[in-house]
Amino acid sequence: MGELPTLVSRAQAAAVEVGMSLTRDGTGPSSCLPGVGRFLAVLAAGCLGGRIGEMGTGVGVGAAWMASAMPADCRLVTVELDPVRVAAAQRVFSDQERVEVIHGDSYDELALRAPFDLVFVDGGRSDRVVELLRIGGRLVFDDVTPVEALPADSPYRENDPKRQFFFTDSRLIATEVVLPDLRNSLLVGTRVA
Ligand SMILES: C[S@@+](CC[C@H](N)C(=O)[O-])C[C@H]1O[C@@H](n2cnc3c(N)ncnc32)[C@H](O)[C@@H]1O
Repeated sequence: MGELPTLVSRAQAAAVEVGMSLTRDGTGPSSCLPGVGRFLAVLAAGCLGGRIGEMGTGVGVGAAWMASAMPADCRLVTVELDPVRVAAAQRVFSDQERVEVIHGDSYDELALRAPFDLVFVDGGRSDRVVELLRIGGRLVFDDVTPVEALPADSPYRENDPKRQFFFTDSRLIATEVVLPDLRNSLLVGTRVA
């Protein structure tokens, strides 16, 4: 599916340096998977004159996918609680004046800068994230396992709080997108009210 954007390679190297996994198989928080990144890039590319927010920067892998694809007149702000990751992400984006990496609580900091055209929710409180979007703006959650890939006895087959949240909020038109690896999926919604 083509080469990785340079910024993504830079962020992946930073992830390895700080010990953040590039897969979902480890124990600690992991960086954005390539399948997720490509999907985010598709949405970011449509944010003409827009603003993108990310909750939970890690060291910036997802932000790198979005920043590499977003139009020249779009800006991205990403927020991370962990100071070591913030410093690493600030180095990754040191030559990207359209990208701002903020140290703090992701919801609180994005709420100060709302509304956004696209928000990637990947760390921090998620109960009020729809309020961060303008009408027509998009929300993406990752770290979801397709029901077909869950163990037969997994409680998430019947009751998954993320899906519950996404599919019961009447302000969102939402769907689940299963990634080509068939082991990971995303929840994606557009704010309509
Ligand atoms: C799954 S990782 C993020 C990966 C990143 N989005 C990427 O694309 O590589 C989740 C991150 O959210 C951060 N986090 C957790 N709670 C947070 C909060 N309240 N505010 C900001 N960041 C938070 C964690 O420190 C962690 O680095």
